[in-house]
Amino acid sequence: MSRNDPLLVQRPSSDHSPERSDAEEDALLTGERTRRSESRRGATFWREVGLFSWALIATAAVIVLAVVYQHGQSTGRREGRWAPGEKPEGKRNLVFMVSDGMGPTSLSMTRSFRQFQKDLPIDDILVLDKHHIGQSRTRSSSSLITDSAAGATAFSCGKKSYNGAISVLPDHSPCGTVLEAAKAAGYMTGLVVTTRITDATPACFSSHVNMRSYEDLIAEHQVGEYPLGRQVDLILGGGRCHFLPNSTSGSCRGDDKDIVQLAKSKGFSYIDNRDGFDELKLGSAAQLPLLGLVAEKDIPFEIDRRFENDVYPSLEEMARTALKALSDATRNSDKGFFIMIEGSRIDHAGHGNDPAAQVHEVLAYDRAFAAVLEFLENDSTPGVLVSTSDHETGGLAAARQLHESYPDYKWFPGVLANASHSSEHLEAKLHDYLDNEGNSASADKKRAYIRREFLEKGLGIFDAQDSEIDRLINPGDQVPAAYVFADIISRRAQIGWATHGHSAADVNIYASSPHDVLDLVGNHENIEVGQFLAKYLDLDLGEITRKLRDTETKPHAASERYAWMGEPLADEVVVDELDTYHGDFKKRSLESKPSHEDAEPRLRLERHSWLTFDSFSQMTDDEFGHHPT
Ligand SMILES: *[C@@H]1O[C@H](CO)[C@@H](O)[C@H](O)[C@H]1NC(C)=O
Ligand SMILES: *[C@@H]1O[C@H](CO)[C@@H](O)[C@H](O)[C@H]1NC(C)=O
Ligand SMILES: *[C@@H]1O[C@H](CO)[C@@H](O)[C@H](O)[C@H]1NC(C)=O
Ligand SMILES: [Zn+2]
Repeated sequence: MSRNDPLLVQRPSSDHSPERSDAEEDALLTGERTRRSESRRGATFWREVGLFSWALIATAAVIVLAVVYQHGQSTGRREGRWAPGEKPEGKRNLVFMVSDGMGPTSLSMTRSFRQFQKDLPIDDILVLDKHHIGQSRTRSSSSLITDSAAGATAFSCGKKSYNGAISVLPDHSPCGTVLEAAKAAGYMTGLVVTTRITDATPACFSSHVNMRSYEDLIAEHQVGEYPLGRQVDLILGGGRCHFLPNSTSGSCRGDDKDIVQLAKSKGFSYIDNRDGFDELKLGSAAQLPLLGLVAEKDIPFEIDRRFENDVYPSLEEMARTALKALSDATRNSDKGFFIMIEGSRIDHAGHGNDPAAQVHEVLAYDRAFAAVLEFLENDSTPGVLVSTSDHETGGLAAARQLHESYPDYKWFPGVLANASHSSEHLEAKLHDYLDNEGNSASADKKRAYIRREFLEKGLGIFDAQDSEIDRLINPGDQVPAAYVFADIISRRAQIGWATHGHSAADVNIYASSPHDVLDLVGNHENIEVGQFLAKYLDLDLGEITRKLRDTETKPHAASERYAWMGEPLADEVVVDELDTYHGDFKKRSLESKPSHEDAEPRLRLERHSWLTFDSFSQMTDDEFGHHPT
């Protein structure tokens, strides 16, 4: 369809052909026969003869077409393409992309946002939209709502595990990963992320620890300090602080181990900033193995990063760099490479309930996805791209009921288009102001400054209420100011959120082509995604699992066999059955306790103590004191 085709013009279709009477329409709905079909019984014999002949001809045609098609395939009718469900026999590459926390509604929201912002027609869709092939069901072994660790273990090992597990199974044993098995089979391997490289998704491909919070230990595994030795050839992302000894500024390690030094001693080249990244010349000058840690923790949200392009590379640039480097490094090999590329912070925008940050994250992911497609199209080595999410975050709704009265069917992308920064960024700036100049300013001055600098300039919002500004100044100890910014913008855009955590929604699966990833067409368990990755590269994950289980780093008692995976979980932690209802339903309770499954937002919002969100996000607008006029 061309851009100018009016999508809403009703095309004539057989469903609405004039021959179909209302009675037939009813019959279709109710399953009852219509009078018209009975009155026609006399013509039935000849109709059946006609149908039979037609069926014969059609069958013959299908057979002929199938033979021609097969022939076309086997003679390489189009280079680099295989019959549906088949794969190339020789050298091949596998690119796996993870859009952490991106649910189907993130796509609806981002698509509309982009159309609004760029004045595009309604059939102008994302690159991802054109490659949608199925959906993934995301539950873990311990919850209907997974976290990223269990979610990524499903991809890395092809097995369900408990929330918090980093490629460790509910029986507390390690499971071999696609990346490790690819390495063992002679492939080169890479990881590219926008969060800490020690965060759950990349960790699951390159380490085995009992709990995702053991990030110091994950960093050690990632440079090869664990039973299998070095497995990753290319690392690009954030999280430098977990690699620096605690005596160094910019460290977040609990000990004085120098993991950068350790990596160098194992042969890694190391870069830690934009200049170092630029010297890689988009991959053509990269020395593998490469440890590239371009941010102390997370790389900023794309909505903020675009103003700091001279400090941090984009996901697309990192993806292009990694593909080029791995492709060059495998040029003379009979094996290609495996790489995992994550749009890590779509999830963080979801946790923060920040729709403006999220649409920019999804668009950045879409650009990285397009860059991978372009690489695959150009490259002489065949390969596939599979992309999915580990879970949905935020319970995002492209709708919001602001009042008790029945809502209008509206949401306003223009509100998101007006925002120039994330809530996270604005919060940091607000704290800066309140701790310094703002500290001694009068209440009126403070309000005026916040209105102008943060709400008008930062969010493009010109109708902020004093009550909202006061809430920013004094959000209370349960709620960070970032959540107040995010709520101010979400309400005006009429975007809804059910939670600051994850949800159990099915997530989309995308691929370079459905033919190449036939196993994942339709609705699947997330572990089938991991199983496909292993199958595409003909990997034996069981072999790696046996190796990990047989390797004992020290002569330990059986109970300490896996001491290298970090502190064991407490015995009472249930990892292989769903939690049961505890009667927790009170919306306003601030006393409900965090559970062990809630590590993700706590790690991210380090500054904030544990938050119980219900009291905040479930308030209606009326409770906030905004009545529309
Ligand atoms: C740094 O790590 C060492 C152990 O490696 C520890 O003894 C020391 O207390 C740590 N220092 C800080 C400030 O955390
Ligand atoms: C793909 O090929 C086109 C045309 O030759 C070129 O412009 C583009 O830079 C190539 N892209 C990649 C990722 O190699
Ligand atoms: C966006 O910002 C402009 C000023 O730059 C303002 O006039 C307009 O009302 C804002 N739009 C929305 C939807 O808030
Ligand atoms: Zn996640």
